[in-house]
Amino acid sequence: MTPLLELEGLSIRLPTPDGLRAVVHDVDLSVEAGQIYGIAGESGSGKTMTMLSLLGLLPRGGVASGRATFDGRDVLAAGKQARRSLRGKDLSMVFQDPMTSLHPMLTVGRQLTEHARLHLGISKAEASRRAAAMLEEVRIPDGEAALRAYPHEFSGGMRQRIAIAIALMCEPQVLIADEPTTALDVTVQAGILQLLDRLRRERGMAVVLITHDLGVMSSIAERVSVMYAGRVIEHGDARDVLQRPGHPYTRGLLGALPQPGAGAGSELRAIPGVPASPLDPPPGCAFHPRCPLAIDACRTAVPPLIAGASEPRHAAACIVTMADIAPRASTGSEVTP
Ligand SMILES: Nc1ncnc2c1ncn2[C@@H]1O[C@H](COP(=O)(O)OP(=O)(O)OP(=O)(O)O)[C@@H](O)[C@H]1O
Ligand SMILES: [Mg+2]
Repeated sequence: MTPLLELEGLSIRLPTPDGLRAVVHDVDLSVEAGQIYGIAGESGSGKTMTMLSLLGLLPRGGVASGRATFDGRDVLAAGKQARRSLRGKDLSMVFQDPMTSLHPMLTVGRQLTEHARLHLGISKAEASRRAAAMLEEVRIPDGEAALRAYPHEFSGGMRQRIAIAIALMCEPQVLIADEPTTALDVTVQAGILQLLDRLRRERGMAVVLITHDLGVMSSIAERVSVMYAGRVIEHGDARDVLQRPGHPYTRGLLGALPQPGAGAGSELRAIPGVPASPLDPPPGCAFHPRCPLAIDACRTAVPPLIAGASEPRHAAACIVTMADIAPRASTGSEVTP
């Protein structure tokens, strides 16, 4: 199947007091129609910036390089006009903080209908009808009244669901959902995940799901990429990555999952040490200072993604755990500048 969204060697530099600095390196990613693609990783690993670059929404002065295509069209090279028409209708994003994406002074109805009228060329009445139906889909009670209300009249969880409804109004082909369920309680979270899964099945919508929560990931994602300090350090089918993680970092993240049956109050095991900043990563493998398996070679060269011997679609950037096939794959390895 041809991918709907494809990133090849995507890198991002952002302005800092020390000039332009790389925060995302060489990301490859390929999302097919009807697929839920999960992106996991600790805070600051570059998940949001990677996706913002596709919409042309990097912080001012940010530069994306490499290749990104949507349905064969070059997204990074697209002009402002083309980007705007892509945004909302083809690629739509639910932002991490719903309060930054909802306008406080405009009614929910106006925010839901405006883009739809523009992109789909539908009447005001038709847009309102759709908006009320979409609010029902995301389980906002009394859609008609909600259309006339302002964002501050809703709870945080409801605002998050309104932001999801706005992103879905134009029936995008790819929905980028940045931590869409983090602020929600478990029941509402399950409802949102079911909704995303249904839209995937019924409309062939693809979803890029960014989350810290590997439990959420394992319940609906088909493919997964794990990021650390601005790089993808492991990717593969969700089942393979979550059941047989190759990278010590992914293994650490999974160790932080609550144990099934452990009951409420069980401790989460966090990975010792602090996440590396992509702005100033340690040399070699950025995870080496926190890695119990690190050897000298990990401190000198950035390890390449090495495919598994039995599962070529599953790869991890670790020269220790993937050592059985490292000699063949490490020829293309990059050396830290
Ligand atoms: N406005 C900015 N200017 C300069 N650097 C920034 C800016 N915003 C973020 N960064 C840098 O970019 C890196 C990646 O940030 P990004 O927001 O993509 O992380 P993330 O993986 O989405 O984290 P989180 O899980 O906390 O949302 C951060 O580590 C930070 O160093
Ligand atoms: Mg983020």
